[in-house]
Amino acid sequence: MTRIFSGVTPSGHLTLGNYLGAIQRWVSVDQHQSPHQEDALFSIVDLHALTVEHEPARLRRLTRQTATLLLAAGLDPKVCTVFVQSHVDEHTRLSYVLECTATDGELRRMIQYREKSAKQQSVRVSLLTYPVLMAADILAYRTDEVPVGDDQAQHVELSRDLAVRFNQRYGHTFTVPRAVVPPVAARVMDLQEPASKMSKSASATTGIISLLDEPAVIRKKVMRAVTDSGSDVEYDRVERPGLANLLEILAACTGGEPAELAAGYDSYGAVKKDVAEAVVELLRPLQERHAALCADPGFLDAVLRDGAERARALARPTVDAAYRAIGL
Ligand code: ADP
Ligand code: NA
Repeated sequence: MTRIFSGVTPSGHLTLGNYLGAIQRWVSVDQHQSPHQEDALFSIVDLHALTVEHEPARLRRLTRQTATLLLAAGLDPKVCTVFVQSHVDEHTRLSYVLECTATDGELRRMIQYREKSAKQQSVRVSLLTYPVLMAADILAYRTDEVPVGDDQAQHVELSRDLAVRFNQRYGHTFTVPRAVVPPVAARVMDLQEPASKMSKSASATTGIISLLDEPAVIRKKVMRAVTDSGSDVEYDRVERPGLANLLEILAACTGGEPAELAAGYDSYGAVKKDVAEAVVELLRPLQERHAALCADPGFLDAVLRDGAERARALARPTVDAAYRAIGL
């Protein structure tokens, strides 16, 4: 049995980066590796959205929207577990205990903390401790695999370190998890700023494709994507980051290889046209299901209630064991 856990923060509208870097695999591979709902858990990690300035009503709305989009993308509550992190107290119970095994130095080294804290006047303590809560999310379920985009690999690494450290010091309690990162589109870049990751937490710009963008909007954003001024089509992440990003998006949408795809084109315009159509087609069924799900809010309530109950029952014994092991 392989236990899979992953999460998404309801800090904005889900992007094509979230989809290609993580959700696509959850839907097509991870949820189906076992028929048991307990073996694949996907969480809307709302506590993680409190680490920066936030607006309570907007957070509540985004939590539901994110959950609806995960179901629309194809997560099937009959074969996996979908739940909201704050509905399951075990995450924060375990997080505190893990904080007592983590050091200030190792948290300050996290790249995401350094980047995000550098942009702020006053930094919430939870921004620093967020990777420990993420470790608790993962370790509470004795998770084997964490399918994530490349930007989260360092945090999964910390979860591994904390698990190993706890097990060595207090007795075997946790499974040591590993990150699973997709072969292409592990880091989808902003279409306007190919040096930065496409992120839902950034303020909306034409560089970010949201999963609910209409076809005309998607086409416009892709056609306006920044590329260099070269003319031949080559896949080169260092020299041609904007074009490489588009080729990766195309590869992830169509199941090809970026370098091979490049060989079939002789103009940037043609690449962009195909990328736009591939993304429109990728998102069309998701957008249709999203509209249908929005018409039935009771269904989402039932899925999340059921998911939280199942998650709680799985996490409780592990967190209890950690409390006993550490002397509580
Ligand atoms: P965001 O940075 O957009 O707020 P989250 O932290 O909620 O995203 O991450 C949800 C999942 O999406 C994680 O597995 C993360 O690695 C993945 N992800 C986020 N942004 C990207 C991106 N630009 N490219 C690929 N994967 C991404
Ligand atoms: Na499953």
